[in-house]
Amino acid sequence: MDYLPIFVNLRQKPCLVIGGGDIALRKINLLIKAEAKIDCLSPLFCDGINSLSLDSKLNLINKSFELNDIKDYSIIIASTDDSLVNSSISILAKKARIPVNVVDSPELSSFIMPSIIDRSPVIIAVSSAGKAPVLARIIRAKLETIIPSAYGALANIAGEYRQKVKDRFANIKDRRAFWESIFSGVIAEKVFSGRMDEAKNDIDNHLNNAVDMELGEVYLVGAGPGDPDLLTFKALRLIQQADVVLYDRLVSKGVMDLVRRDSELIYVGKKGGSDKSTKQIDINEQLVELAKSGKRVCRLKGGDPFIFGRGGEEIESLSENGIPFQVVPGITAASGCSSYAGIPLTHRDYSQSCRFVTAHLKNGTTNLPWEEFIIDQQTIVFYMALSGANYICEKLMEHGMNKDMPIAIIEKGTMPEQKVYISSLTKLPSLLEKEDINAPTLMIVGEVVRLHEKLNWYGN
Ligand SMILES: C[S@@+](CC[C@H](N)C(=O)[O-])C[C@H]1O[C@@H](n2cnc3c(N)ncnc32)[C@H](O)[C@@H]1O
Repeated sequence: MDYLPIFVNLRQKPCLVIGGGDIALRKINLLIKAEAKIDCLSPLFCDGINSLSLDSKLNLINKSFELNDIKDYSIIIASTDDSLVNSSISILAKKARIPVNVVDSPELSSFIMPSIIDRSPVIIAVSSAGKAPVLARIIRAKLETIIPSAYGALANIAGEYRQKVKDRFANIKDRRAFWESIFSGVIAEKVFSGRMDEAKNDIDNHLNNAVDMELGEVYLVGAGPGDPDLLTFKALRLIQQADVVLYDRLVSKGVMDLVRRDSELIYVGKKGGSDKSTKQIDINEQLVELAKSGKRVCRLKGGDPFIFGRGGEEIESLSENGIPFQVVPGITAASGCSSYAGIPLTHRDYSQSCRFVTAHLKNGTTNLPWEEFIIDQQTIVFYMALSGANYICEKLMEHGMNKDMPIAIIEKGTMPEQKVYISSLTKLPSLLEKEDINAPTLMIVGEVVRLHEKLNWYGN
């Protein structure tokens, strides 16, 4: 190990930063977080440092560095652009046994500063011993994405309860089991979603054995249109911690690959080859039963659960049964497919409004407000439109839409197999006859479709 990582308490300790530029400012911002008493010495200061001084966050010493500036400081950071000055600061500080960091010069430093992930009071430090700072920064970015921002709040709550838990469980093994169940369970999720009072109430109840420890929780999670990189951080975290995942046909393989390996998978989509889905009422009941048995249940739905996804019905039933739940929005097919097809849904020159419409036909027909679609500068996105596409074109023309209005059909949007077909109201039926287009497909009608030719970045 080249360096021993330690965490230093600098609260109200005198620290000296030599240098007045942007790099010094970055270090100063860290020292402010650590509540240090900061002197910043330089003949010139950047705007950021000047404004911190106006806010009384630090003391400015407006002069060039001299040997007797090295006084009784807890740490010294040198970030001047003069290598001779930097090395004399290093020599003097080391002689005075003051820890010194010379920015970007590990050989002159007695300590180095890591990349940090700040979830105070939890701090994670990443260092490459000064050998590959960019790599350390990349590792930091990865950790930032997987560690919820509310971990600090969780640690603070644990701090509040530390003594109570000690009093309640004399045995260290029992204490550990208690905290493990809190940190990886439903209570932690409540903290992450900002429900602090509920979380504290649950901890009190657990400590008093007054609650059914077994009640689980349901996460209604939007899986997006297919590309797993379009998942939100929260969706990823919840699908990786769920004990059971109920998913349907539209959830892509890429997303399913991210589910925790040992969780139970339950398919509730259309049954192989047939058009029949698992009945909604059966799904609702299954969610309630699984949560009642103490499981953390993830209900994964394609796109966004509240857009043509019947997510509302599922959580209504949870609410009626007193099951805690969270809803995580996903990127809906209209956003995902239009982005990956290079078709902006609105554009100052072509469209000022956009409608999302379900084209799901009952008995080959539908009751859509066709007149409302015949408005200039409007984009209409039809979900579930493949089987009724010809009917939709007919109806739009019958109600006066321009026969040359461009249409895009996007098949398997955002996935590597994505295909975009461009046509028009009159020509679409012959295109559908010629091409073998399969679900899921999204249909975009409007002048914005013309932009595909220029803006198509993803290819088909
Ligand atoms: C039952 S709706 C569910 C919509 C979903 N909740 C959402 O927000 O995207 C299913 C329809 O969404 C559209 N869809 C979903 N994913 C798609 C994709 N990757 N490519 C094209 N269309 C998609 C299709 O029109 C499909 O028939």
